[in-house]
Amino acid sequence: MRILFSANNVNQSHRKWCFPTAECSTEYTPLPGHTTTHTTIDACYYSPMTTTNHTDTTTADNADFQLSDDIIYLNHAAVAPWPQCSLRAVQAFAQDNAENGSSHYLQWLETESRLRERLRALINAPSADDIALLKNTSEALSVVAFGLDWTPGDNIVSSNEEFPSNRVVWEALERKGVSLRQADLRSAETPEDALFAQVDEHTRLLAISSVQYASGLQLDLQRIGEFCHERGILFCVDAIQSLGAVQFDAQAMHADFVMADGHKWMLGPEGLAVFYCRAELREKLKLYQYGWHMTDAFIDFDRRDWQPADTARRFECGSPNMLGIHALEASLALLQEHGMDRIEARVLANTCLLIDAIDANPSLELLTDATPGRYAGIVTFRHRDLDNESLFRHLTDHGVQCAQRGGGVRFSPHYYTPPEKILRAVDLSKKVSSLG
Ligand SMILES: Cc1ncc(COP(=O)(O)O)c(C=O)c1O
Repeated sequence: MRILFSANNVNQSHRKWCFPTAECSTEYTPLPGHTTTHTTIDACYYSPMTTTNHTDTTTADNADFQLSDDIIYLNHAAVAPWPQCSLRAVQAFAQDNAENGSSHYLQWLETESRLRERLRALINAPSADDIALLKNTSEALSVVAFGLDWTPGDNIVSSNEEFPSNRVVWEALERKGVSLRQADLRSAETPEDALFAQVDEHTRLLAISSVQYASGLQLDLQRIGEFCHERGILFCVDAIQSLGAVQFDAQAMHADFVMADGHKWMLGPEGLAVFYCRAELREKLKLYQYGWHMTDAFIDFDRRDWQPADTARRFECGSPNMLGIHALEASLALLQEHGMDRIEARVLANTCLLIDAIDANPSLELLTDATPGRYAGIVTFRHRDLDNESLFRHLTDHGVQCAQRGGGVRFSPHYYTPPEKILRAVDLSKKVSSLG
C-alpha cells in the first residue's frame, strides 16, 4: 500500500524515498479508497494536505495544457502534447518569420542559448558548452557509436529490453569486430547485477536506457556509473524516458554520454534532441558530419581555414532547427518554473496512484516493477482475461491515449494529468471484459 504525502517529504537526494517517520512532519492523505499504515508504506505520494488542495494543484497544472476534455492522455512515453506556452512560442515564431523573415535572427540565437542552458541545468552538465542540439536520440547514439575508435574484440554491454535505437546502433558495429552483449535484466538479483555479469576485460562501453520504454523499469544509474567509472568503461545513457519526468544528474552518475529527444517528457516537438558528451571525451569522438556550423569561427564565412569548434557545437553540422528550439525552450521553461523536484514528485505521485489502482483490481495484472525507485512515469499492465489488442482498442475507443508495449498496455501520465482521469482509465480497463 502506498501513501500520499507532501513533495517536501520526498528526499531530494534523488531516487530515495523518505518514509513518513517523525522527521516527516507533514500530514499525509490516503488515496480515496485506500487505508494506510506505517508498516505497509512502500512509497510516497505528493498531496498537499487535503484532497481539495490536491485537486486545486492538478487543476492548475492541467491549465498549462489545452487537451480536449474527452481525451485521457496517458502517452507521454510516446509523443507528448505541447503545453500552451509552447504553442504560443511556435505561433509567435511563425508570425515573426512570416512578417520579418530572419530580421530577428540574433534574438532567435538568444533563445537557442537559453535552451542550451536549460538543457545543461536539466541534466546537471558542467557547462552549456557540453550540450549539442541534434536531430534525435538515434543520431546522438550514432555520433557516439561511430565516433569512438574501436578495436576488434571490443564489446558493448546493454540490456535485452532496449528500444531499437539503443540496440541497432551497437549491432551496426559488428562489421568493426565489436559485439553487443544484451543482459537479461531479470536474470540476477538486480538489473544492475545482470548488466555487470556481462562485463569482461573487453568491455569498452555500457549503454542503457535510464527507464525502459516498455516495462517502465528504472535503472540505478548512480550504481552503474560508479561501476563503469571504477573500471574505465564508458557509460552511455539514453535518457529519453527520464528527462522532464524525473531529476537527472549526469555528473553524479559519471555519465560520459547522455542523449534524449525532446518530444516525450520534455514536452517539446519531435526532431530536436539534447546530446551531452563529457568535455574530456569530446575530441575522442571522431567526426563524420561536417558543415559550416561545426567550425570554430562559424560566423566568419570568408575564412578559409577552420577547426572543429572546441565546444559540443562540433557535433552540429548545419543550420539549427530554430522552430523546434523555440518550442522546446518554452516547454523546458515551464518545467523549470515549476521546478524539476516538484515535477518529479507529481509524476511519481501519478505513477503510485496508477500502480495502486491496478493492484486493487484482480482482473488486471501489473507488469511494471512496483518497488520504490524502480519506476518513473511508465506503468504497463495487462488484463488477465483479455488480449492486449482488445484492451488497447477498447481504451482508445473511449478516448484513452496509450500504447501497446512490453506484453501489455502502457500508461504514461505526466505531472499535470488529473488523478480522476487516471482512475477513470483504470476503471475502463477493468470493465472491458464485460464487453464479451
Ligand atoms: C528509450 C528510447 N530511446 C529512443 C527512442 C526514440 O529515439 P529517437 O529520438 O531517435 O526517435 C525512444 C522512443 O520511443 C525510446 O523510448
